[in-house]
Amino acid sequence: MLAAAGIRTVITSAGDPRVMTGRLHDAGMTVFHVVGSLRNALKAADAGVDGVIVEGVEGGGFKNPQAASTLVLLPLVASRVRLSIIAAGGICDGPSMAAALVLGAQGVQMGTRMLTSAESPIHDNLKNAVVGADETATVMLSVRGLPTMRVLRTLTAERALAAGRSDVGLDGIPALYFTGDLAASMANTGQVAGRIAQVEAVADIIDQTWAGARAALDDARARLDV
Ligand SMILES: Cc1cc2nc3c(=O)[nH]c(=O)nc-3n(C[C@H](O)[C@H](O)[C@H](O)COP(=O)(O)O)c2cc1C
Repeated sequence: MLAAAGIRTVITSAGDPRVMTGRLHDAGMTVFHVVGSLRNALKAADAGVDGVIVEGVEGGGFKNPQAASTLVLLPLVASRVRLSIIAAGGICDGPSMAAALVLGAQGVQMGTRMLTSAESPIHDNLKNAVVGADETATVMLSVRGLPTMRVLRTLTAERALAAGRSDVGLDGIPALYFTGDLAASMANTGQVAGRIAQVEAVADIIDQTWAGARAALDDARARLDV
């Protein structure tokens, strides 16, 4: 199906990179695999992927609760894996992109920031909840039948946390995303929600991020007096 659609680059995650990489390469595609630990990065490299997306535990979505933050994981993987690296988890603007580049990444991926972009099709209730959240407003939650996720600390998430389990699964995701019912499911969100102050167009986010990364690097150099 991917080949028929002319897809050139595929990102795989949450599974064994050995399963798909060979077939995707045979079809002429570039393959990046999402990793949340050094062990998984080495496994992905062994599987022959073209690059890894190194995602720290502060990011939104499925996570190993014992995983390391981007600040620890990214330079660790960069020192051991000779592949292209995209950093994810906690990145939303120029300074955080500059930090990722300094720590060894060639590029960055933003999840929570793009979730709240003007073009994102999710309901304003969820965008506003993420924009209004502070940096302490996410929790790690074991969702029914699924691995642990980092989600927004809604009333539903807080109740599940207090009960030690969640009876609310992901079936309600369409209601959460498209009708804005915040109680319908768990809202994948990263800690970086605390740094996102407004909804902006994707082109503006990318332009500001590029310009902001250069400015942050210049500013750091000036502070070091080099
Ligand atoms: C709403 C949402 C859904 C996501 N779904 C997936 C997914 O299906 N597969 C995946 O590998 N990562 C998923 N992620 C993780 C993102 O691709 C990204 O790596 C992560 O959000 C980066 O951290 P940040 O939220 O701090 O930007 C999701 C993130 C969010 C916020």
